[in-house]
Amino acid sequence: MQSLLTQAPRFAARRLPNAARALSTTPARAQAVPTEKPVLMKEFKIYRWNPDEPEKKPTLQSYKIDLNQTGPMLLDALIKIKNEIDPTLTFRRSCREGICGSCAMNIDGQNTLACLCRIDRNTGKDTKVYPLPHMYIVKDLVPDLTLFYKQYKSIQPYLQNDNPPEKGEFIQSQEDRKKLDGLYECILCACCSTSCPSYWWNQDEYLGPATLMQAYRWIADSRDSYGAERKEKLQNEMSMYRCHTIFNCSRTCPKGLNPAAAIAKIKLELAAE
Ligand code: SF4
Ligand code: SF4
Ligand code: FES
Repeated sequence: MQSLLTQAPRFAARRLPNAARALSTTPARAQAVPTEKPVLMKEFKIYRWNPDEPEKKPTLQSYKIDLNQTGPMLLDALIKIKNEIDPTLTFRRSCREGICGSCAMNIDGQNTLACLCRIDRNTGKDTKVYPLPHMYIVKDLVPDLTLFYKQYKSIQPYLQNDNPPEKGEFIQSQEDRKKLDGLYECILCACCSTSCPSYWWNQDEYLGPATLMQAYRWIADSRDSYGAERKEKLQNEMSMYRCHTIFNCSRTCPKGLNPAAAIAKIKLELAAE
């Protein structure tokens, strides 16, 4: 006990100078205060349409913000505009890290996720933001995804097996599990489907790349025994064969997935039967 008591002051005495240095406000430290970054104004032209004023045509509205006062992503700019300039600007977002898929929009001509899209810091050029193309619009940057989700539901995106294991889990080999890589990661953002010309013109009947890739995700799953039925549903002129392998879908996917390849695999399996 005695030694502990005698050691404590020595320990404190060693640390005190550091603590004192940390709290000191010497002239040198005062000068270290960061200087303000220069103003870097950038113009954003954003699609606006309000269903409460249906007589007014859609317009591109201009907003200017200082890039040094906002985060690096396009979604940061939209949030800043909404919070500080125009609370009526409407867009979807949730996770802000490329997981929920809700901030999909068309930025400078490319369908992508606003939260994963870096702002172009070239202030000599404006950035144009539109909703996903060829979709009905709910308001501003919010597309109506009702049909898209209905199509997704139509492929029955869940495990179907009439002979489940008597007890325990479905067992899957590592090899079979690997077949799902590049398929299960889809976040259903709809960037691919809304970049597909075939989907633009045949949306009522053609399922589009996002839904078709998920159809293949279940066809390829070794635990699912409904592959034949799933393929049978696609064996018609419109549901899948409207895909002409243009690859817009794969080029635009913000998650780096390849829906066109998945569609090609379904076609190959159907051709082999
Ligand atoms: S495949 Fe890519 S672009 Fe298409 S819905 Fe999935 S994540 Fe989005
Ligand atoms: S590859 Fe098929 S699904 Fe993809 S953009 Fe082209 S037509 Fe559409
Ligand atoms: S906010 Fe979720 S993907 Fe962008």
